[in-house]
Amino acid sequence: MKVLVTGGTGYIGSHTCIELLERGYELVVFDSLVNSSEKVVDIVKSITGKDFKFYKCDMLDADGLEQIFEDNKFDSVVHFAGLKAVGESVEMPVKYYTNNICGTLNLLRLMEKYEVRNIVFSSSATVYGDVKTVPISEDFPLSATNPYGGTKLMIENILKDLFVSDNRFSVSILRYFNPIGAHISGRLGENPRGIPNNLMPYITQVAIGKLDYLRVFGDTYPTRDGTGVRDYIHVVDLAIGHIKALEKKTGIPGVHIYNLGTGIGYSVLEILHTMEEVCKKKIPYRIVSPRAGDIAQCYADASKALLELGWKAERGLKQMCEDSWRWQSMNPNGLE
Ligand code: NAD
Ligand code: UFG
Repeated sequence: MKVLVTGGTGYIGSHTCIELLERGYELVVFDSLVNSSEKVVDIVKSITGKDFKFYKCDMLDADGLEQIFEDNKFDSVVHFAGLKAVGESVEMPVKYYTNNICGTLNLLRLMEKYEVRNIVFSSSATVYGDVKTVPISEDFPLSATNPYGGTKLMIENILKDLFVSDNRFSVSILRYFNPIGAHISGRLGENPRGIPNNLMPYITQVAIGKLDYLRVFGDTYPTRDGTGVRDYIHVVDLAIGHIKALEKKTGIPGVHIYNLGTGIGYSVLEILHTMEEVCKKKIPYRIVSPRAGDIAQCYADASKALLELGWKAERGLKQMCEDSWRWQSMNPNGLE
Protein backbone atom coordinates (compact mmCIF):
# COMPACT_ATOMS: atom_id res chain seq x y z
CA MET A 1 0.00 0.00 0.00
CA LYS A 2 1.37 3.44 -0.93
CA VAL A 3 0.76 6.07 1.75
CA LEU A 4 1.25 9.83 1.73
CA VAL A 5 2.30 11.04 5.20
CA THR A 6 1.78 14.77 5.76
CA GLY A 7 3.80 16.33 8.59
CA GLY A 8 5.91 13.16 8.56
CA THR A 9 9.07 14.68 10.09
CA GLY A 10 7.13 15.81 13.19
CA TYR A 11 7.01 14.00 16.52
CA ILE A 12 4.10 11.61 15.94
CA GLY A 13 4.50 11.50 12.15
CA SER A 14 8.12 10.33 12.31
CA HIS A 15 7.34 7.53 14.78
CA THR A 16 4.45 6.46 12.56
CA CYS A 17 6.71 6.43 9.49
CA ILE A 18 9.01 3.96 11.29
CA GLU A 19 6.12 1.61 12.12
CA LEU A 20 4.78 1.86 8.55
CA LEU A 21 8.17 1.21 6.93
CA GLU A 22 8.86 -1.72 9.25
CA ARG A 23 5.60 -3.30 8.06
CA GLY A 24 6.45 -2.89 4.41
CA TYR A 25 4.30 0.12 3.51
CA GLU A 26 5.60 2.31 0.68
CA LEU A 27 5.82 5.92 1.87
CA VAL A 28 5.97 9.40 0.47
CA VAL A 29 6.46 12.05 3.14
CA PHE A 30 6.12 15.80 3.01
CA ASP A 31 6.63 18.50 5.62
CA SER A 32 7.26 22.24 5.54
CA LEU A 33 9.76 21.77 8.40
CA VAL A 34 8.13 24.69 10.25
CA ASN A 35 8.26 22.62 13.46
CA SER A 36 10.68 19.79 12.65
CA SER A 37 14.10 19.06 11.24
CA GLU A 38 15.05 17.54 7.90
CA LYS A 39 17.55 15.40 9.86
CA VAL A 40 14.57 13.25 10.85
CA VAL A 41 14.40 11.91 7.28
CA ASP A 42 17.84 10.31 7.52
CA ILE A 43 17.25 9.12 11.08
CA VAL A 44 14.06 7.30 10.05
CA LYS A 45 15.85 5.77 7.04
CA SER A 46 18.76 4.67 9.21
CA ILE A 47 16.57 3.15 11.96
CA THR A 48 14.46 1.19 9.48
CA GLY A 49 17.00 0.52 6.73
CA LYS A 50 14.21 1.54 4.30
CA ASP A 51 14.07 4.33 1.77
CA PHE A 52 11.24 6.75 0.96
CA LYS A 53 10.68 9.96 -0.96
CA PHE A 54 10.67 13.21 1.03
CA TYR A 55 9.34 16.54 -0.25
CA LYS A 56 9.90 19.81 1.59
CA CYS A 57 6.48 21.30 0.91
CA ASP A 58 4.00 23.56 2.66
CA MET A 59 0.43 22.34 2.28
CA LEU A 60 -0.61 25.97 1.75
CA ASP A 61 1.36 25.83 -1.52
CA ALA A 62 -1.34 24.20 -3.66
CA ASP A 63 0.91 23.88 -6.73
CA GLY A 64 3.75 22.29 -4.78
CA LEU A 65 1.30 19.89 -3.19
CA GLU A 66 -0.23 19.01 -6.54
CA GLN A 67 3.21 18.07 -7.85
CA ILE A 68 3.38 15.37 -5.16
CA PHE A 69 0.05 13.95 -6.34
CA GLU A 70 1.23 14.20 -9.99
CA ASP A 71 4.42 12.25 -9.21
CA ASN A 72 2.82 9.48 -7.14
CA LYS A 73 -0.34 7.39 -6.97
CA PHE A 74 -1.51 6.97 -3.38
CA ASP A 75 -3.86 4.49 -1.76
CA SER A 76 -4.19 6.48 1.43
CA VAL A 77 -3.17 9.67 3.24
CA VAL A 78 -2.16 9.90 6.91
CA HIS A 79 -2.56 13.57 7.78
CA PHE A 80 -0.43 14.89 10.67
CA ALA A 81 0.59 18.30 9.28
CA GLY A 82 -0.63 21.19 11.37
CA LEU A 83 0.32 23.74 14.00
CA LYS A 84 -0.42 22.52 17.53
CA ALA A 85 0.50 25.02 20.25
CA VAL A 86 -2.65 25.94 22.17
CA GLY A 87 -1.30 29.22 23.64
CA GLU A 88 0.11 30.41 20.32
CA SER A 89 -3.24 29.65 18.66
CA VAL A 90 -4.94 32.06 21.09
CA GLU A 91 -2.42 34.78 20.17
CA MET A 92 -2.44 34.05 16.43
CA PRO A 93 -5.80 32.56 15.50
CA VAL A 94 -5.64 33.64 11.85
CA LYS A 95 -2.32 31.87 11.39
CA TYR A 96 -3.75 28.69 12.93
CA TYR A 97 -7.01 28.70 10.97
CA THR A 98 -5.14 29.47 7.75
CA ASN A 99 -2.50 26.81 8.21
CA ASN A 100 -4.61 23.98 9.56
CA ILE A 101 -7.89 24.58 7.71
CA CYS A 102 -6.74 26.00 4.37
CA GLY A 103 -3.88 23.49 4.28
CA THR A 104 -6.26 20.59 4.88
CA LEU A 105 -8.67 21.92 2.23
CA ASN A 106 -5.82 22.00 -0.32
CA LEU A 107 -5.05 18.39 0.56
CA LEU A 108 -8.68 17.26 0.31
CA ARG A 109 -9.17 19.05 -3.01
CA LEU A 110 -6.27 17.05 -4.43
CA MET A 111 -7.49 13.82 -2.88
CA GLU A 112 -10.80 14.35 -4.69
CA LYS A 113 -9.09 15.25 -7.97
CA TYR A 114 -6.66 12.29 -7.87
CA GLU A 115 -9.30 9.91 -6.47
CA VAL A 116 -7.51 9.07 -3.23
CA ARG A 117 -10.40 8.20 -0.95
CA ASN A 118 -8.77 6.98 2.26
CA ILE A 119 -7.60 9.35 5.00
CA VAL A 120 -6.46 8.95 8.60
CA PHE A 121 -6.61 12.28 10.43
CA SER A 122 -4.80 13.39 13.63
CA SER A 123 -7.51 14.78 15.85
CA SER A 124 -7.22 15.40 19.56
CA ALA A 125 -8.96 14.92 22.87
CA THR A 126 -9.17 18.71 22.84
CA VAL A 127 -12.38 18.33 20.75
CA TYR A 128 -14.18 17.18 23.93
CA GLY A 129 -13.69 20.71 25.34
CA ASP A 130 -14.37 21.28 29.00
CA VAL A 131 -15.34 17.70 29.92
CA LYS A 132 -17.51 17.14 32.97
CA THR A 133 -16.99 13.39 33.48
CA VAL A 134 -14.35 10.77 32.75
CA PRO A 135 -13.58 8.40 31.09
CA ILE A 136 -14.36 10.11 27.79
CA SER A 137 -16.00 8.08 25.04
CA GLU A 138 -16.30 9.01 21.38
CA ASP A 139 -19.97 9.97 21.70
CA PHE A 140 -19.33 12.75 24.25
CA PRO A 141 -20.41 16.25 23.17
CA LEU A 142 -17.79 18.21 21.22
CA SER A 143 -16.67 21.81 21.64
CA ALA A 144 -13.61 23.98 21.17
CA THR A 145 -12.05 26.01 23.95
CA ASN A 146 -9.30 27.64 21.85
CA PRO A 147 -8.52 28.25 18.15
CA TYR A 148 -6.28 25.15 17.92
CA GLY A 149 -9.14 22.99 19.18
CA GLY A 150 -11.40 24.90 16.78
CA THR A 151 -9.28 23.79 13.83
CA LYS A 152 -9.47 20.13 14.91
CA LEU A 153 -13.25 20.31 15.31
CA MET A 154 -13.71 22.09 11.97
CA ILE A 155 -11.54 19.57 10.15
CA GLU A 156 -13.52 16.71 11.71
CA ASN A 157 -16.71 18.37 10.41
CA ILE A 158 -15.22 18.96 6.96
CA LEU A 159 -14.26 15.28 6.77
CA LYS A 160 -17.75 14.21 7.85
CA ASP A 161 -19.26 16.46 5.13
CA LEU A 162 -16.84 15.05 2.59
CA PHE A 163 -18.10 11.55 3.34
CA VAL A 164 -21.73 12.71 3.05
CA SER A 165 -20.96 14.18 -0.37
CA ASP A 166 -19.12 11.09 -1.60
CA ASN A 167 -19.72 7.95 0.37
CA ARG A 168 -16.86 6.09 -1.23
CA PHE A 169 -14.55 7.91 1.21
CA SER A 170 -13.04 6.12 4.21
CA VAL A 171 -12.29 8.68 6.90
CA SER A 172 -10.57 7.61 10.13
CA ILE A 173 -10.51 10.28 12.81
CA LEU A 174 -8.09 9.42 15.62
CA ARG A 175 -8.45 11.50 18.78
CA TYR A 176 -5.12 11.39 20.59
CA PHE A 177 -4.79 11.88 24.31
CA ASN A 178 -1.34 12.98 25.61
CA PRO A 179 1.52 11.48 23.60
CA ILE A 180 4.89 11.20 25.37
CA GLY A 181 7.88 8.85 25.12
CA ALA A 182 10.28 8.38 22.25
CA HIS A 183 11.74 5.76 19.95
CA ILE A 184 13.57 3.04 21.91
CA SER A 185 16.82 3.83 20.06
CA GLY A 186 16.95 7.27 21.71
CA ARG A 187 17.54 8.80 18.25
CA LEU A 188 14.06 10.18 17.70
CA GLY A 189 11.72 11.98 20.07
CA GLU A 190 9.81 15.17 20.70
CA ASN A 191 11.89 18.12 19.57
CA PRO A 192 10.12 21.27 20.82
CA ARG A 193 11.42 24.67 19.70
CA GLY A 194 12.11 27.07 22.60
CA ILE A 195 10.67 26.51 26.06
CA PRO A 196 8.31 23.52 26.02
CA ASN A 197 4.60 24.02 26.71
CA ASN A 198 3.89 20.37 27.47
CA LEU A 199 4.63 18.55 30.68
CA MET A 200 7.01 15.76 29.64
CA PRO A 201 9.56 17.78 27.64
CA TYR A 202 9.49 20.40 30.40
CA ILE A 203 10.25 17.75 33.06
CA THR A 204 13.09 16.19 31.06
CA GLN A 205 14.61 19.62 30.41
CA VAL A 206 14.55 20.35 34.16
CA ALA A 207 16.08 16.92 34.83
CA ILE A 208 18.93 17.56 32.38
CA GLY A 209 19.57 21.01 33.87
CA LYS A 210 18.36 23.21 30.99
CA LEU A 211 15.46 24.60 33.05
CA ASP A 212 15.53 25.37 36.78
CA TYR A 213 12.30 23.85 38.02
CA LEU A 214 8.91 22.58 36.92
CA ARG A 215 5.94 24.84 37.56
CA VAL A 216 3.09 22.58 38.61
CA PHE A 217 -0.06 24.33 37.45
CA GLY A 218 -2.35 24.01 40.48
CA ASP A 219 -2.67 21.49 43.32
CA THR A 220 -6.28 21.98 44.35
CA TYR A 221 -8.06 20.14 41.53
CA PRO A 222 -10.50 17.43 42.66
CA THR A 223 -7.97 14.67 41.84
CA ARG A 224 -5.94 12.15 43.92
CA ASP A 225 -3.20 14.63 44.83
CA GLY A 226 -4.79 17.88 43.62
CA THR A 227 -2.72 18.14 40.41
CA GLY A 228 -4.12 17.71 36.88
CA VAL A 229 -4.72 14.19 35.57
CA ARG A 230 -4.14 13.18 31.93
CA ASP A 231 -4.04 10.05 29.81
CA TYR A 232 -0.37 9.80 28.73
CA ILE A 233 0.20 7.44 25.82
CA HIS A 234 3.50 6.20 24.40
CA VAL A 235 4.09 7.72 20.96
CA VAL A 236 4.94 4.27 19.53
CA ASP A 237 1.60 2.86 20.75
CA LEU A 238 -0.05 5.87 19.13
CA ALA A 239 1.86 5.21 15.90
CA ILE A 240 0.69 1.59 15.90
CA GLY A 241 -2.90 2.86 16.26
CA HIS A 242 -2.50 4.42 12.79
CA ILE A 243 -1.37 1.10 11.34
CA LYS A 244 -4.45 -0.59 12.79
CA ALA A 245 -6.70 2.11 11.31
CA LEU A 246 -5.08 1.62 7.89
CA GLU A 247 -5.31 -2.16 8.12
CA LYS A 248 -8.92 -2.25 9.24
CA LYS A 249 -10.48 0.77 7.55
CA THR A 250 -8.78 1.35 4.19
CA GLY A 251 -11.44 0.84 1.54
CA ILE A 252 -14.22 0.62 4.15
CA PRO A 253 -16.44 3.63 3.47
CA GLY A 254 -17.58 5.64 6.48
CA VAL A 255 -16.41 8.00 9.18
CA HIS A 256 -14.55 5.92 11.76
CA ILE A 257 -13.80 7.74 15.00
CA TYR A 258 -11.52 6.41 17.76
CA ASN A 259 -9.97 7.62 20.98
CA LEU A 260 -6.31 6.67 21.20
CA GLY A 261 -5.42 6.68 24.88
CA THR A 262 -4.52 4.14 27.54
CA GLY A 263 -7.66 4.65 29.61
CA ILE A 264 -5.47 5.42 32.64
CA GLY A 265 -5.04 8.87 34.15
CA TYR A 266 -1.85 10.00 35.91
CA SER A 267 -1.36 13.22 37.85
CA VAL A 268 1.41 15.75 37.26
CA LEU A 269 3.15 14.68 40.48
CA GLU A 270 2.89 10.98 39.56
CA ILE A 271 4.64 11.72 36.27
CA LEU A 272 7.28 13.80 38.03
CA HIS A 273 8.01 11.13 40.65
CA THR A 274 8.18 8.32 38.07
CA MET A 275 10.68 10.40 36.10
CA GLU A 276 12.71 10.96 39.28
CA GLU A 277 12.95 7.17 39.71
CA VAL A 278 13.99 6.72 36.10
CA CYS A 279 16.66 9.42 35.97
CA LYS A 280 17.71 8.80 39.57
CA LYS A 281 17.66 12.43 40.66
CA LYS A 282 15.36 14.90 42.36
CA ILE A 283 13.50 17.14 39.93
CA PRO A 284 12.79 20.53 41.53
CA TYR A 285 9.25 21.88 41.26
CA ARG A 286 7.04 24.65 42.60
CA ILE A 287 3.28 24.74 42.81
CA VAL A 288 1.95 27.78 40.93
CA SER A 289 -1.55 28.96 39.92
CA PRO A 290 -3.59 26.78 37.55
CA ARG A 291 -2.99 27.45 33.84
CA ALA A 292 -5.89 29.22 32.12
CA GLY A 293 -8.07 26.81 30.17
CA ASP A 294 -6.78 23.61 31.88
CA ILE A 295 -9.27 21.01 33.05
CA ALA A 296 -8.89 18.85 36.18
CA GLN A 297 -8.84 15.48 34.49
CA CYS A 298 -8.99 13.92 31.06
CA TYR A 299 -8.66 10.26 30.18
CA ALA A 300 -10.05 8.02 27.50
CA ASP A 301 -12.52 5.24 27.28
CA ALA A 302 -10.41 3.41 24.68
CA SER A 303 -12.67 0.36 24.38
CA LYS A 304 -13.97 1.19 20.89
CA ALA A 305 -10.46 1.06 19.39
CA LEU A 306 -9.91 -2.30 21.07
CA LEU A 307 -13.21 -3.71 19.87
CA GLU A 308 -13.10 -2.43 16.28
CA LEU A 309 -9.40 -2.02 15.50
CA GLY A 310 -7.94 -4.63 17.85
CA TRP A 311 -5.67 -1.87 19.19
CA LYS A 312 -4.61 -1.34 22.77
CA ALA A 313 -1.72 0.67 24.22
CA GLU A 314 0.96 -1.75 25.49
CA ARG A 315 3.61 0.52 27.02
CA GLY A 316 3.29 1.62 30.65
CA LEU A 317 4.29 4.84 32.41
CA LYS A 318 7.75 3.61 33.44
CA GLN A 319 8.68 2.81 29.85
CA MET A 320 7.28 6.14 28.65
CA CYS A 321 9.53 7.94 31.15
CA GLU A 322 12.56 5.75 30.35
CA ASP A 323 12.23 6.37 26.62
CA SER A 324 11.66 10.13 27.06
CA TRP A 325 14.70 10.30 29.33
CA ARG A 326 16.92 8.30 26.95
CA TRP A 327 15.99 10.64 24.12
CA GLN A 328 16.63 13.76 26.26
CA SER A 329 19.98 12.46 27.58
CA MET A 330 21.24 11.44 24.15
CA ASN A 331 20.06 14.71 22.57
CA PRO A 332 20.33 17.45 25.21
CA ASN A 333 19.74 20.10 22.53
CA GLY A 334 17.22 18.17 20.48
CA LEU A 335 18.28 17.74 16.84
CA GLU A 336 19.67 21.28 16.49
P1 NAD B 1 4.68 18.28 15.27
O1 NAD B 1 4.67 19.76 15.26
O2 NAD B 1 5.90 17.59 15.78
O3 NAD B 1 4.35 17.71 13.81
C1 NAD B 1 3.54 18.40 12.89
C2 NAD B 1 4.35 18.57 11.61
O4 NAD B 1 3.55 19.29 10.67
C3 NAD B 1 5.62 19.37 11.84
O5 NAD B 1 6.73 18.62 11.36
C4 NAD B 1 5.41 20.63 11.02
O6 NAD B 1 6.63 21.11 10.46
C5 NAD B 1 4.40 20.18 9.99
N1 NAD B 1 3.56 21.24 9.42
C6 NAD B 1 2.86 22.20 10.08
N2 NAD B 1 2.22 22.99 9.20
C7 NAD B 1 2.53 22.51 7.95
C8 NAD B 1 2.17 22.90 6.64
N3 NAD B 1 1.40 23.98 6.41
N4 NAD B 1 2.63 22.18 5.60
C9 NAD B 1 3.42 21.10 5.81
N5 NAD B 1 3.83 20.70 7.03
C10 NAD B 1 3.36 21.40 8.09
O7 NAD B 1 3.40 17.79 16.08
P2 NAD B 1 2.96 16.33 16.53
O8 NAD B 1 2.93 16.32 18.01
O9 NAD B 1 3.72 15.32 15.78
O10 NAD B 1 1.45 16.37 16.04
C11 NAD B 1 1.02 15.76 14.82
C12 NAD B 1 -0.46 15.98 14.68
O11 NAD B 1 -1.13 15.43 15.81
C13 NAD B 1 -0.86 17.46 14.63
O12 NAD B 1 -1.91 17.61 13.71
C14 NAD B 1 -1.34 17.72 16.05
O13 NAD B 1 -2.28 18.76 16.10
C15 NAD B 1 -1.97 16.39 16.42
N6 NAD B 1 -2.02 16.15 17.86
C16 NAD B 1 -0.89 16.26 18.63
C17 NAD B 1 -0.97 16.07 20.01
C18 NAD B 1 0.25 16.21 20.87
O14 NAD B 1 0.09 16.41 22.10
N7 NAD B 1 1.47 16.10 20.35
C19 NAD B 1 -2.20 15.74 20.61
C20 NAD B 1 -3.33 15.62 19.80
C21 NAD B 1 -3.22 15.83 18.42
N1 UFG C 1 1.53 20.99 33.36
C1 UFG C 1 2.22 21.54 34.44
N2 UFG C 1 3.37 22.25 34.16
C2 UFG C 1 3.84 22.43 32.90
C3 UFG C 1 3.12 21.86 31.82
C4 UFG C 1 1.96 21.15 32.09
O1 UFG C 1 1.83 21.40 35.58
O2 UFG C 1 4.88 23.10 32.71
C5 UFG C 1 0.32 20.18 33.63
C6 UFG C 1 -0.95 20.75 33.01
O3 UFG C 1 -1.55 21.68 33.89
C7 UFG C 1 -1.78 19.48 32.79
C8 UFG C 1 -0.72 18.41 32.50
O4 UFG C 1 0.50 18.92 33.04
O5 UFG C 1 -2.44 19.12 33.98
C9 UFG C 1 -0.53 18.13 31.02
O6 UFG C 1 -0.29 19.35 30.34
P1 UFG C 1 0.22 19.37 28.81
O7 UFG C 1 0.44 20.81 28.45
O8 UFG C 1 1.36 18.44 28.64
O9 UFG C 1 -0.99 18.73 28.01
P2 UFG C 1 -2.52 19.18 27.92
O10 UFG C 1 -3.34 18.06 28.47
O11 UFG C 1 -2.75 20.52 28.47
O12 UFG C 1 -2.72 19.29 26.34
C10 UFG C 1 -2.27 18.29 25.44
C11 UFG C 1 -1.86 18.93 24.12
C12 UFG C 1 -3.06 19.53 23.44
C13 UFG C 1 -4.09 18.46 23.27
C14 UFG C 1 -4.45 17.84 24.61
C15 UFG C 1 -5.40 16.69 24.43
O13 UFG C 1 -0.90 19.96 24.35
O14 UFG C 1 -2.69 19.96 22.16
O15 UFG C 1 -3.24 17.34 25.23
O16 UFG C 1 -4.91 15.79 23.53
F1 UFG C 1 -5.20 19.02 22.76
